[in-house]
Amino acid sequence: MDETRTNRSLWTLTAPPRDFPALAGDLVVDVVVIGAGITGLTTAWLLKRAGKRVAVLEMNRILSGQTGQTTAHLTELLDTPYATLRRDFGEKGARLAASSSRAAMEQVASLVQELSLDCDFQRVPSFRYAETARQWASLEQELSAARDAGLHASLTHAVPLPFPVKGALRVEDQALFHPRKYLLGLVDSLIGEGCFLFENTRVTEVHDGAPCRIVTDRGTVTTAAVVEATHSPLNRVLLQTKLSAYRSYTVAGPLEGPLEPGQYYDSQEPYHYIRTQSVEGRAYVIVGGEDHKVGAEEDTGRRYAALEDYARKHFPVKQLTYRWSGQVIESTDGLPYIGRNSASRHVYVATGFSGTGMTFGTLAGMLISDLILGRQSPYAALYDATRVKPLAGAKDFIQENAETAFRFVADRLAKPEGKHLSEVAPGEAKILEVEGQKVAVYREADGTSHAVSPVCTHLGCHVHWNGAERSWDCPCHGARYSPTGKVLNGPAVKDLPSRKLPR
Ligand SMILES: Cc1cc2nc3c(=O)[nH]c(=O)nc-3n(C[C@H](O)[C@H](O)[C@H](O)COP(=O)(O)OP(=O)(O)OC[C@H]3O[C@@H](n4cnc5c(N)ncnc54)[C@H](O)[C@@H]3O)c2cc1C
Ligand code: FES
Repeated sequence: MDETRTNRSLWTLTAPPRDFPALAGDLVVDVVVIGAGITGLTTAWLLKRAGKRVAVLEMNRILSGQTGQTTAHLTELLDTPYATLRRDFGEKGARLAASSSRAAMEQVASLVQELSLDCDFQRVPSFRYAETARQWASLEQELSAARDAGLHASLTHAVPLPFPVKGALRVEDQALFHPRKYLLGLVDSLIGEGCFLFENTRVTEVHDGAPCRIVTDRGTVTTAAVVEATHSPLNRVLLQTKLSAYRSYTVAGPLEGPLEPGQYYDSQEPYHYIRTQSVEGRAYVIVGGEDHKVGAEEDTGRRYAALEDYARKHFPVKQLTYRWSGQVIESTDGLPYIGRNSASRHVYVATGFSGTGMTFGTLAGMLISDLILGRQSPYAALYDATRVKPLAGAKDFIQENAETAFRFVADRLAKPEGKHLSEVAPGEAKILEVEGQKVAVYREADGTSHAVSPVCTHLGCHVHWNGAERSWDCPCHGARYSPTGKVLNGPAVKDLPSRKLPR
């Protein structure tokens, strides 16, 4: 599983686990999809329907990536405001961003209906609310851009929240669902007739060509096309310079008072996102937020505590019975990169979904399957993975890459936090010096210790401890490792090597 003991994802705990075999030996198929989240499974399903033989290769368990850590609002309200999209991608680009999100939402709705998927799919309104005059003014500006882009949006002072707000941008006909139940339903009709799903099969090398060769730790797969549905693209250095990885936190508990079913977002930076969900017939509220750059915070338990505080203060909830966190990847220009990878002939990527990867992941499945099948897609140019927009996001691009370069150097020069195992208390982790080398050491509560190299196997930045998830996280492009060095999150594909424990 991606996450550790402190992670209690509502989706994982309320939909039964399913086991799939690992790849055993070599295989030939039409398309290899790497990664079994919403992007990979949707792509695979659509390609199978079109008659392709597809193999999905997942390094952990299916849905153990960010799709298991989501809050699953299906919405046209993107993280990048429509006013910004209009400025950076033009009127047409903003309209396409809205219509593609709508198309993805309707794709989910039609599969729910076609396959009779019991996944709590529900149409609800969405409210982005303002608590200050300044926030209200910015919603007023966003209204015209959102309407011009085609959203069914209005401003309202009637916001069904249990605390007073100035008003909200209300968008009609958005949706909620249980992502794991939905995708487990897709999986049921994915396997068979030349299509496969393999768990515990990590892709270590992707060789483009005719045919392509996909090397895994379990065998090699030969194929005509490859889709990297890995959330963070594997070893794509150029693309990684246009992405930044953030962690986001979520808590959920049973409602003790009324809250109308819906999606709610405040206007803070970073924003809180709230939704309702029924669990065994009881109404729950799910509250998310407290985002920060991966690796920028060691005491991540503090983020959960702040979120629990926020949830209890604002909503009729006492017990927060679920909590989980995951990763969100931002692109520098505000829209995802979906399509053929630059300099590749048969390798496709899908990344940079920000906080709307349920729709963008579904859209990626639609768009990439169209490209592989040789069909035209109205969205291909907008999301082109090779695009370079010199102005949009230029400031962020420079800042993010300067930060990565800074981390690369600063963490190497940073002094170790000690030399002896006795300096690490049970439950703690530190970077120690052992025989002149830095070593990342974690001591479990029972005293068992693990020592691994702190050098990320992706591009060599140094990892930082994440206290709440008990993982070593890389601040450069978001790779994560377990205390024993196992890759939990790409873009890394190799584990951190073990090191000798200090005395
Ligand atoms: C807390 C949180 C809340 C969110 N809320 C929302 C929301 O309300 N609405 C919304 O639209 N989006 C939301 N998102 C974003 C959304 O969940 C993600 O963008 C989406 O799930 C990404 O799906 P994916 O299939 O691309 O990636 P993933 O689900 O991460 O799947 C990628 C898979 O690839 C596998 N993989 C990686 N490397 C390899 C390899 N080398 N070999 C084999 N397999 C590999 C991984 O193990 C993983 O299972 C949220 C995200 C978080 C973290
Ligand atoms: S994730 Fe790129 S260097 Fe660690």
